[in-house]
Amino acid sequence: MTKPNDFLSIKDFTPQQIRRFLHLASAIKLQSQAYAEALKGKTLALIFEKPSLRTRVTFDVGIHQLGGFSLYLSPAEINLGKRESVYDVAKNLERMVQGIMIRTFAHEIMAKMAEYASIPVINGLTDYSHPCQAMADFLTIFEVKSRLRGVKVAFIGDGNNVAHSLMFAGAQVGAHVWVATPPGYEPNADAVRWAEKRALETSGSCTVTNDAVAAATGADVIYTDVWASMGQEAEIAQRRKAFAPFQVNDGLVGRARPEAVFLHCLPAHRGEEVSVVFQQAENRLHVQKAIMLELMKEVGVGVSTDLELQAAEN
Ligand code: CP
Ligand code: NVA
Repeated sequence: MTKPNDFLSIKDFTPQQIRRFLHLASAIKLQSQAYAEALKGKTLALIFEKPSLRTRVTFDVGIHQLGGFSLYLSPAEINLGKRESVYDVAKNLERMVQGIMIRTFAHEIMAKMAEYASIPVINGLTDYSHPCQAMADFLTIFEVKSRLRGVKVAFIGDGNNVAHSLMFAGAQVGAHVWVATPPGYEPNADAVRWAEKRALETSGSCTVTNDAVAAATGADVIYTDVWASMGQEAEIAQRRKAFAPFQVNDGLVGRARPEAVFLHCLPAHRGEEVSVVFQQAENRLHVQKAIMLELMKEVGVGVSTDLELQAAEN
């Protein structure tokens, strides 16, 4: 269950709330110093059950830049669900820190953490979605295109976690998101239905196809991700074969608008010319600062035990 101060899925918000996060992220990016004490003294626990460069560094640096602290917890330290249950981890952490970011496998593990913990929980990637990534993607698209409504975004590759969040965010901001996958690798049907429905309200659209050329034609943004995500290492050979016709090459990019940009959430698994991917990666920092700020500003920092003891003695 989602609490009002969690950031688990882009679906949990209204279009206005998503735009508010993006607006705040732009303000923070422009004037970082003005927010230097916004989360003073607050600690965010970073639970990682999968590897990371961008998510770890941007949350770590982001909370410090807001005046708070971070605590990195590796898979070996917690061993979630094995050494200790999700419930017990949530109940411990809510007494020690003011927020939890979690990167894990099953989406349900993160949802349970949010249900059990009274403090804000932020989704740092699950097998199902990657909402912080999509927020950075649309901040980047706004910076380079000066608009979000009506922009055509073609995601070519696997209908995975990154594709799901891109569809949700696109529907929230009125973009036209096309997802082109090989047969059998389409995004989750419920996710598509949600995006189609929300897009009706924002004049956007969500189109799923097996035709990469149709998706790329006239696109303002071409987006791709790895063909085998973390946890799918055993399928690499089979996926390489299935995705070969969906490689983003010059032919496919040539179908896009001449001023189109290329996005990739990174890490990329091959050397290729990429346009704004490092701007996109940096924007993880700014959108996540906005998310932490909105979620954690109301969460109190515990009263010092010393003061309580002194008061009791007097
Ligand atoms: N894009 C992204 O989430 O990168 P990391 O896996 O390095 O965190
Ligand atoms: N789809 C990729 C995204 C990495 C940021 C994965 O889950 O591994």
